[in-house]
Amino acid sequence: MKKFVIEGGRPLKGEVTLSGSKNASLPILAATLLAPGEHIIHNVPMLGDVKTMIKILKATGAITKFENHTLVINTKSITNSKVPYELVSTMRASFLIAGALIGRLGEAYVSRPGGCAIGSRPIDGHLKGFEALGVKIEEKHGYINATTKDLKGAEIWLNERSVTGTENILLASVFAKGETRVTNYAKEPHVIDLIKFLNSMGAKIKAQDDSIIIEGVKKLQPKEYTISPDYNEAGTFMIGSAITGGDIFLRDVRWEDSISEIAKLREIGVEVKKDKLGIRVKRKKIIKPCTVKTAPCPGFPTDLQPQITALLTLADGTSIVTETMFEQRFNHIPELRRMGAQIELEERSAIIKGVSELSGAKVMASDIRAGAALVLAGLSAKGVTEISRIYHIDRGYENLETKLSTLGAKIKRV
Ligand code: EPZ
Repeated sequence: MKKFVIEGGRPLKGEVTLSGSKNASLPILAATLLAPGEHIIHNVPMLGDVKTMIKILKATGAITKFENHTLVINTKSITNSKVPYELVSTMRASFLIAGALIGRLGEAYVSRPGGCAIGSRPIDGHLKGFEALGVKIEEKHGYINATTKDLKGAEIWLNERSVTGTENILLASVFAKGETRVTNYAKEPHVIDLIKFLNSMGAKIKAQDDSIIIEGVKKLQPKEYTISPDYNEAGTFMIGSAITGGDIFLRDVRWEDSISEIAKLREIGVEVKKDKLGIRVKRKKIIKPCTVKTAPCPGFPTDLQPQITALLTLADGTSIVTETMFEQRFNHIPELRRMGAQIELEERSAIIKGVSELSGAKVMASDIRAGAALVLAGLSAKGVTEISRIYHIDRGYENLETKLSTLGAKIKRV
């Protein structure tokens, strides 16, 4: 099993171009099923989860060619509506294929996704949304069997601002007769990107206050589209600059996607500057302690919680990080303790007493963002850090070590 070996203590310096958004790519790739024909999608990150989604699309009948971040996908003949457990079990977002298959074929037989390291991650909101649209849901042998004779518009209220729940209902409702209104929907940038892509294919979706309104259409046209930058990757690098006392420039990232994180980093004492080509992140002064509470967009993103927790282990005082979105998203904490961090857990909060430096150690990644947090801690720690189970990191980051090396980090994959 591959590892990262990091020699810490070197500030990140220089300029780097990041990849397209993983969490925008997954629903947009699934959405190509809704418009038969050839789609060309640019700036698709070549990482684990995207490769899984491509495998699933091929299993339904799509023909794909993925070269140098451009995916050509032909969804003319989609014949198979059954997606096996083996494909769904490695990535929960695979369940997005259900909404796309319901929209395209009026049926989907998709394995119920399991839980994962960060929590149980139910799909009740997805299923209730499908049923409201006139889809019959049965569950047998771990499979969700969804069938419908005709999709009709509905009034849907989401109990949780679920990202893939919102996306799945969007995918299933574009052809539903009449109007569908989804209230309490997730507003993350990747949900907005999916709406943009669907509308570019001819869907009629608009946001109105806390609802999205979908007016059913007859058919959609295949399109050429470019995936937006990954704000989770950008956020990870911004924290990388802060934790190593660095000075980096991130090319072509969308400032508006990172507003909550930038506000938090500025509160901590990090200099974040915008210019027309990107964002500059520099940390000269001490790291000030603060409180962080994750929340649905526009709140502080849960996907950056492990990374900012790592940063706050070096703050000049005590910080509190509260994770409201997932019941088990603190798996990075025992590993950070092994590096000398002083963190106590109290229910959904981590109480972090800042220390002057972390020390390199052998640690283990448990999910994408926990793994990223350990990389950042290793970049700052005194001595050598070895991170195992980096396949978790590869699911969500493309060539992380190469990008960090261009910024002067001493990190290698062994
Ligand atoms: C998406 O997961 C992201 N994944 C996650 O990113 C991200 O952490 C999460 O949204 C929150 O922003 C993708 O976009 C592919 P949710 P998702 O449904 O949609 C509860 C990463 O590292 N909930 O928004 O599965 C749920 O338990 C990954 O890139 C219900 O109760 O998350 C959680 O507490 C990790 N019922 C909260 O909502 C439901 O039907 C948010 O979950 C659905 C969700």
